[in-house]
Amino acid sequence: MHLWKGLPFDKNDVLKEGGTEVDFSYISFPNRKHVTTELVVDILTEKVTGVNLNYCEKITDSCITFILKRCPQIADLFVAGCPQITDWSISSVADCCTTIKCLNVSENKNITSRSINKVIESSPQLEQLWAYKCAITSLPENTGFLLAKLQTLWISNNKLTKLPRTITKLIGVCDHFYAAGNPLLDPPLKIVNQGLEAIRKYNNEDYELEIFPKKEQLFSTLFSCLINSSKQNGFVGVGEKLVILEVGIGSFPNAIFYKHANINELDIIGIDSDDQIDKYARNSAKRAGILPNHSLRTIHATSEALPFPDASVNAVVSTLTLCTVQNPFRSIAEIKRVLKPGGKFLFWEHVLSETDESLRKSQIALSPQQAKLKNGCCLDRRTGETIRAAGFSKLDMEYFELSNFSILNPTICGIATA
Ligand SMILES: C[S@@+](CC[C@H](N)C(=O)[O-])C[C@H]1O[C@@H](n2cnc3c(N)ncnc32)[C@H](O)[C@@H]1O
Repeated sequence: MHLWKGLPFDKNDVLKEGGTEVDFSYISFPNRKHVTTELVVDILTEKVTGVNLNYCEKITDSCITFILKRCPQIADLFVAGCPQITDWSISSVADCCTTIKCLNVSENKNITSRSINKVIESSPQLEQLWAYKCAITSLPENTGFLLAKLQTLWISNNKLTKLPRTITKLIGVCDHFYAAGNPLLDPPLKIVNQGLEAIRKYNNEDYELEIFPKKEQLFSTLFSCLINSSKQNGFVGVGEKLVILEVGIGSFPNAIFYKHANINELDIIGIDSDDQIDKYARNSAKRAGILPNHSLRTIHATSEALPFPDASVNAVVSTLTLCTVQNPFRSIAEIKRVLKPGGKFLFWEHVLSETDESLRKSQIALSPQQAKLKNGCCLDRRTGETIRAAGFSKLDMEYFELSNFSILNPTICGIATA
């Protein structure tokens, strides 16, 4: 261990690249559990613009207030996993700092909406806010408008029961928006996030190959309907793109169907309860060559609480997702809510057999085991009936058997109109 200025640290740990011993601008002590407030106070200079004290358990509120007083230019403040800090000092960030760009207060159980809402309301420069695993119960109603420069908003695993509607404005601007793991509904949702590499990489080639012609036809019908609807008033605003929401986008095997959409500049938004899905979905989009024409954004969220306003998207796509979601009734109600009048819901799902008694029995018997092994996939859902009961204004639905895929059969597919 090196000593630096009498302190038990390696100088390189403390001086960020580009700093010098005399004139450093960034101090960084992540995971140094013995770092104290006194120590930080001792080495802090006015030139410091960034402080990283993540997981330094001895850091107290007075350390943060001192940093704010001593370093008027501070842009980055990282104090995740500092259990002694409270709303009191984080409110001071909002009260006396207009230069803050990145703030990390995650994994601090004492941090509530009191301070976070103040930060959101009074930090015009804020670009990145990490506040996961805190005790935040609400966000300001106009969050989406206040955080004009935001790139990252990470508020997963809090106690939020509702997301402000304006948060949808951020979805277009933010690179990272994570809100899952909140009790966005009552009863609280369990987030399916098992990190199963196999499912993320899901590429059931045999299955996709067999269904390709029929699915291609279905997507082609969807795109034709969207082209026709775009001529109606209000379906697409002036200067806006058609928005398609893929629910449970997974590894985005549907990317290929967007290639022949005959529509320019679709705004494809994929939501998934798995927060690791982005790179897989993006890879599929790149491989299918759809990105020059269309855009793809992925959001970590659940279908049971879609983070979109009422009547805000032109189409929703759900393929092999409603068998897995925790609450299909709620998910379909949410899909219907976010669709614009006349908007389309394309679905493709395997369901419980209506015609083969012995297959039905096997599906019911095997469903718990399948759900356990395959990320929550249920074999015993009557998804067609659930969609019918949701009361869409028009429903074109087909029920059919694929030639293989015994228990992942029969299948329903179709397009419902909101
Ligand atoms: C079987 S995969 C289907 C993926 C893709 N749509 C396809 O056609 O292959 C189901 C996907 O739904 C996601 N999922 C499960 N429950 C969800 C929920 N409640 N909300 C959103 N996505 C969910 C899973 O993480 C997974 O990526």
